[in-house]
Amino acid sequence: LKTAMGQSHAKIIFFGEHSVVYGQPAICLPVSKIKTSVTITAVNTGQTIQSRYFTGKLSAMPDSQTGIQLLIRTILTELKQEATPFAMQIESAIPAERGMGSSAATAIAIIRAFFHFFEEPLSHSELLRLADVSEQYIHGNPSGLDAATTSSRFPIWFVRGRRPQTIPIKQNAFLVIADTGILGQTGLAVQYVKNRLAQDPQAELAIEHLGQNAKQARICLANGDANTLGHLMNDTQKNLAMLGVSHPLIDQYIKLALDSGALGAKLTGGGMGGCLIVLVNNQTHAQKIATVLQQNGAVQTWTEPLRSLKHKG
Ligand code: PMV
Repeated sequence: LKTAMGQSHAKIIFFGEHSVVYGQPAICLPVSKIKTSVTITAVNTGQTIQSRYFTGKLSAMPDSQTGIQLLIRTILTELKQEATPFAMQIESAIPAERGMGSSAATAIAIIRAFFHFFEEPLSHSELLRLADVSEQYIHGNPSGLDAATTSSRFPIWFVRGRRPQTIPIKQNAFLVIADTGILGQTGLAVQYVKNRLAQDPQAELAIEHLGQNAKQARICLANGDANTLGHLMNDTQKNLAMLGVSHPLIDQYIKLALDSGALGAKLTGGGMGGCLIVLVNNQTHAQKIATVLQQNGAVQTWTEPLRSLKHKG
């Protein structure tokens, strides 16, 4: 039985959420341990999908899955395989709507699986172009940051409209990622910031400040300065909260983490729910903070050494 697999992983925004919309740089990190896998198996008849949202025929996917359906049809058309029967299984450990790039990761894994299945070469720019088909449908006007990071093994320096760059990391610190369990509301948060900018001159300064922090963070990542990185995270959180995109539970978990000795903490992604990230010195401390957050209601936590995220070159 012929089968092929495609994989991808979660992403987090380390610095630059919201300000990236206004041309400032963002630093995004792949989270390789939180994976999405797509398996395609050759069958005699039918084109079927099995995922946590839907099991059935490609032609019978519900409205909520139109982005994925459109992507699959585009791939099949471009590869001239419109009528080829297949059974697709999508498995993802990435929670949806928490700013962890679950929809982009699914798209990336599907594209990789199909190109593998049909033994066609796939360039990185083609991968991103195809991922944009479902991302455009699902998110309206995506920056491309999610697809770039969920398909990369390396940290990404992202400026809207420019080619994503990979950046070096020389750090012994650890990150704890914690899920509040509350759905993030990226669309609403982006709109909220837009309104703030129209009314409040301070908001413009905050955006500028967020961009400066991303630039400084890039230097700290390269030279191993975890303490300054922690300060930059705290300052970034202050500015994001000022823009109105934090959440009471995020604030509460951040306080808990800092009271437990973390170097810094902030929300990640669009905010108004979703996940937070915490910087700590070592793995033991990371585990301790993950436990504290879970005991206080975080639905899931992950710890990840920053040093595992190496630069390509
Ligand atoms: O919630 P996420 O991870 O999709 O991130 C949104 C990032 C924003 O800067 C808030 C919006 C954007 O399109 O870049």
